[in-house]
Amino acid sequence: MALPDQNAVADQLAAFDAELAAAKSPRDAQSVRDRFLGRKNSVVASWMQLIASAPPDQKKNIGRYANDLKQAIEVRWTHYAESAPPSLPAGAVDVTLPGRAVLTGHRHPLTVVRDRMEEIFTRMGFAVVEGPEVEDEWHCFDALNMPAEHPARDMQDTLYLATPLPPLGTTRDGQALPRTVLRTHTSSMQIRYMQAHQPPVRIIVPGRVYRKDDLDLTHTPMFSQLEGLVVDEGISLADLKGTLLAFAQQMFGERSRLRFRPSFFPYTEPSAEVDVSCWSCDGAGCAMCKQTGWIEILGCGMVHPAVFEAVGYDAEKYTGFAWGMGIERVAILRYQVEDIRQFYENDLRFLEQFPI
Ligand code: DAH
Repeated sequence: MALPDQNAVADQLAAFDAELAAAKSPRDAQSVRDRFLGRKNSVVASWMQLIASAPPDQKKNIGRYANDLKQAIEVRWTHYAESAPPSLPAGAVDVTLPGRAVLTGHRHPLTVVRDRMEEIFTRMGFAVVEGPEVEDEWHCFDALNMPAEHPARDMQDTLYLATPLPPLGTTRDGQALPRTVLRTHTSSMQIRYMQAHQPPVRIIVPGRVYRKDDLDLTHTPMFSQLEGLVVDEGISLADLKGTLLAFAQQMFGERSRLRFRPSFFPYTEPSAEVDVSCWSCDGAGCAMCKQTGWIEILGCGMVHPAVFEAVGYDAEKYTGFAWGMGIERVAILRYQVEDIRQFYENDLRFLEQFPI
C-alpha cells in the first residue's frame, strides 16, 4: 500500500462524503462512518497500522495524515448527525415524539359563577330547582300580582310565542289556552313550586330568561338569573337581610356590606334593591363601582300576600322573602368582562381565560 499523503487525505474525504450522501438510512450512514473511522479495518485504523512498518522518517507524516483524516471525518459526521432529519420508514411510528395532549376543556365562566352561588345557598339549606323557559302568562305575570296592564307585559319587553289556533289553542272544554311567553324572569318558578309544595319552602332557581332587547355591550335577549324563595311561619325582613349578607360575604369577600334601597316589585312588599360594597375598592370608590363604592346586585322583598293567595297559601299564617339576581351581571363584574356578548360566542380565546 502506498504511504498516505495530502492527496490521499483529500481522496478519502471525497469518498466519505459521497458514500454518506448515498446512505439511505441511519444504519447505512453509521456503517459508512465505521468503514472510515472504526477501530478495526477502517481507513483511519489501517493508516495507523502502517506507522509500525514505515521508514522512521515517514512515521511522523503518516501519523499526521491519519489524524487529519480522522478529525475531518469526525467534523463531517457530527455535522451530518445534527442536521440529518431522523428518517423513518414509511408508515413507522416515531415513539420519541411527545404525545398529543387531550383537550380537557373547562367550565364556562357563567357556570363557574352559577356553581359558586349554588354552593353557597345549598350549604345554607336551599334546594336547587329548575323550571320551564316557555311559560304561560299566568305563571309569569298574573300570579305574581302583575295584571294585564303591567308594563313588563308590553310586547317591547316580552317575547310572546305564537298561540296555536283552535282546536290546539283550546283546552278540552273549549277554553282558550293562556298565551305563552319565554319567561322574562325566574320568578315564575316561585309560583310553580308553591303550587306543588307546602311550606316550609327554601329554594333557589337558576336558569335562563328572555327579553326583547337588542344586543349591545350590556344587553342580550337571553341571560341568566338566580331566584330565591323562602316561606315559613315567622319569616321576617331580618331573615332576608341575614341570608343575603351571608351570601355576599362568601361570594364577594368577608368584608362585604349590603345597602338596601326601597324599590317596587308587584310581587313583594316591602321591596328593595340591594347594593354590595365594592369588592374592588372596599367602598372607597373606583372605576368598577363608578366611584360610588356600591354595586347593585339584586332585587328582593317580602312576598306579597296576593302571591300567596294565587297559589293557595294562607297569607295570615305564612310570610316569606324572595330575591332575583343576574348571573351575567355578577360574572361581568367579577371578571371585568367588557362585552356581555362574549359569554355566548364560544370563542376559546375568551373562554380559556377563566379559572377551571
Ligand atoms: N324578577 C325581578 C327581575 O327580573 C327580580 C326580582 C325582584 C325577583 C324581586 C324577586 C324579587 O324574587 O322579590 O328583575
